[in-house]
Amino acid sequence: MTTHSSVPLPVTARRTGPLAGTIKVPGDKSISHRSLIFGALAAGTTRITGLLEGEDVLRTAAAMRQLGAEVEKMEDGSWQVRGNGVGALAEPDTVLDMGNSGTAARLLMGLVASCPFTTFFMGDTSLHRRPMGRVRLPLEEMGALITSRSGGRFPLAVTGRDLMPIDYELPVASAQVKSAILLAALDTPGLTRVTEPKPTRDHTENMLRHFGATVTVTDLDGGGRRIDYQGQQELTAADIIVPGDPSSAAFIAVAAAILPGSDVTITNVGLNPLRDGIFVTLKEMGADIEIMNLREEAGERVGDLHVRASRLNGIEVPPERAPTMIDEFPVLFVAASFATGKTVMRGLHELRVKESDRIAAMAAGLKSCGVKFEELDDGLIIEGNGRAPKGGGKIETHLDHRIAMSFLVMGLAAEKPVTVDDGRVMETSFPGFADLMGGLGGQITADNHR
Ligand code: S3P
Repeated sequence: MTTHSSVPLPVTARRTGPLAGTIKVPGDKSISHRSLIFGALAAGTTRITGLLEGEDVLRTAAAMRQLGAEVEKMEDGSWQVRGNGVGALAEPDTVLDMGNSGTAARLLMGLVASCPFTTFFMGDTSLHRRPMGRVRLPLEEMGALITSRSGGRFPLAVTGRDLMPIDYELPVASAQVKSAILLAALDTPGLTRVTEPKPTRDHTENMLRHFGATVTVTDLDGGGRRIDYQGQQELTAADIIVPGDPSSAAFIAVAAAILPGSDVTITNVGLNPLRDGIFVTLKEMGADIEIMNLREEAGERVGDLHVRASRLNGIEVPPERAPTMIDEFPVLFVAASFATGKTVMRGLHELRVKESDRIAAMAAGLKSCGVKFEELDDGLIIEGNGRAPKGGGKIETHLDHRIAMSFLVMGLAAEKPVTVDDGRVMETSFPGFADLMGGLGGQITADNHR
């Protein structure tokens, strides 16, 4: 599936004129994974429009085929998934390779935990470093058998069993863990309950409802949520329209906000309230972002974003907002580097266990671009002077797409060009990022001098 060579491809962004135009970003990664998974579990044919064709999601498509579903790309660009109903997956005869995708890895571990066979999982070196105990513990409590190398990380094998429902309080705010438990609960008789102290993205709950299941969500005192799911409900195929990914739109929005004179409209962006923290935060910093045409499609809130460049000011980002913008902190760090004053971002322990240690990777890159900051255990305090940082950094991306794109955004507006060591990682979530930026007038080019 991965067609690129093993040779890293350095990519450079340099400052040109302002960004201008109207664009659409690729489909939401979280919703795309789930549409393939639930499509494969529902009886009948599910048609998906706007699926993200990034490497992470293609891993899930391949895995669902290995588990016996028919997954096909149609001539009109939509995707079709034919499932046989909950509990009807087939034993894969080869290892499921999850590549760089923590979401595919954790959701599918939950999915196969109730299947009467053993599924073997592997991934790339980034995924092999990521913690899996957070999924393993609740799945073992339900009765699954998980065998891994020491430390509980990938590669590992999940032997499915007849599971028992659990009542589980998430120790970390993680939609992936919540979703793994709900997927394990699908074919488990009885009531599974997941309590989350801080609400996390609810695409799994929305999609279960979209496929005809009943999910009961109760708001708790103190801001948490309880999710109840009665196992062994039927799922019925339903068409899905995947909105544009707000996490991808965030790169464009920040680039337009920091590059003087820019005026960009991003249409069809998913604005689920548990995903829109970056836009709320940018606005608090003084960004000129207007949300237009708010509407609901296939159970998700969608709108268009009109972003114009403006002066940004440092703020303190409320730590409790972190789950609603967890993937957007790297690019927020870039925005903060152009702002006037201190931006304080804390409560971000989870950033240390993403595709890379995002606090460390960003800190190293910001330093090489001349940004003033203080690194904390759980975040960064960035101090800007309202001017473009020097730039000029050579950035190590550590197999992390969001580190690559964040620093390319920096390079579009910094004084000197910024080079990332390997641009191929952007294929994970945002195929065509450089071309799309190019269409708006930004200059991002592969380094051909190798
Ligand atoms: C995701 C949840 C988040 C996010 C990831 C996608 C999902 O991870 O960082 O990119 O689709 O459920 P956690 O739930 O582990 O925070």
